[in-house]
Amino acid sequence: MLQFEILATDPTSHARRGRLSLRHGVVQTPIFMPVGTYGTVKGVLPQSLQQMGAQIILGNTFHLWLRPGLEVVQGFGGLHGFENWQAPILTDSGGFQVWSLGAMRKISEQGVQFASPVNGDKLFLSPEVSMQIQTVLDSDIAMQFDECTPYWQGDGAAAAKGGSGHVTTEAEARASMELSLRWARRSQAEFARLQNPNALFGIVQGGMFEHLRLESLQALVDLDLPGYAIGGVSVGEPKELMRQIMAHTPHRLPAHKPRYLMGVGTPEDLVQGVADGVDMFDCVMPTRNARNGTLFTRYGDLKIRNARHRHDPQPIDPSCSCTACAGPEGVPWEQGGRGGFSRAYLHHLERCGEMLAPMLASIHNLHYYLNLMRELRAALEAGAFAAWRARFAVERSRGV
Ligand code: GUN
Ligand code: ZN
Repeated sequence: MLQFEILATDPTSHARRGRLSLRHGVVQTPIFMPVGTYGTVKGVLPQSLQQMGAQIILGNTFHLWLRPGLEVVQGFGGLHGFENWQAPILTDSGGFQVWSLGAMRKISEQGVQFASPVNGDKLFLSPEVSMQIQTVLDSDIAMQFDECTPYWQGDGAAAAKGGSGHVTTEAEARASMELSLRWARRSQAEFARLQNPNALFGIVQGGMFEHLRLESLQALVDLDLPGYAIGGVSVGEPKELMRQIMAHTPHRLPAHKPRYLMGVGTPEDLVQGVADGVDMFDCVMPTRNARNGTLFTRYGDLKIRNARHRHDPQPIDPSCSCTACAGPEGVPWEQGGRGGFSRAYLHHLERCGEMLAPMLASIHNLHYYLNLMRELRAALEAGAFAAWRARFAVERSRGV
């Protein structure tokens, strides 16, 4: 099951430093969880993940159900055996992924009917089915099946430009939130019936309406689940609204249980989220950006395709100890290490479409996110979060 201890709190914010014990190991929080949708963190070896200090990774119910299918994973005793990752795994329920199918889905009280994007088969996902899949996957943390309320209804892209579609109304957000609550109860009942020995998290919804978020939160707290997530953020809303929800919801969740902000975000969002009382984050941003050549550094973001890197002998981030920047020794350039790869070399690989480019970029970006959280945990332990945060903001805006 799950145990959670708070080791330190910050008097200037809602930030806390914790330790989360799961069936496959212990996770130091606040933590960033690399995303491994199909049972792999794209382009990164598990040993590299370990080396950079990844403590828990994500998997996805929806994708793994479609491919390779449950019978295959079952043959390996679950996802840990199949992907050969022995540390904790969290799986998302499919509630979010199913929405990205757009017009291909049909929703009812019972669940979601859709055509498989792989082979067109008619499929049905419900709280019960999602719990059955997550039980076979044997993830340390399973998520309730929910509906992620979007910011736009209808064609969001067109709506943003004044075309068809509209911003989700309060009535729509309420109906969606209440459906997610009923699905939370069904998820919990099925999880218990299956005697799943892992932990099930509830997901707070409610769109951009604080009173709906509060209602969702209180009803979920009544279910006494071992942890809670904040969903339905970073769904197309303006940044101000996202910040408003981040400031509103996390610290109202039970203090003695882990809090997870789903699908967020930039390094700045993570630091803000920790200050708001969040313990766990996941986002495709470090790996997705790596694949399109955007790299995070201590001094701001860098686009490796830019011609100015063509002759640059420096690594991506001179302060970084990742394999891409500092080689196998892990001594940063700033400290005299010369074991890493230059910006010039990465620029060249990227322009030639070489596989090593996204691989090294993914290692670096994930290392950056994990190291950010490591620094943040150390600052919380030292009672120096406010000072650390101020320095972080100055350094990040300095420019590379
Ligand atoms: N990932 C990002 N946001 C969400 C959400 O609201 N629900 C689920 N299940 N996953 C998410
Ligand atoms: Zn690096």
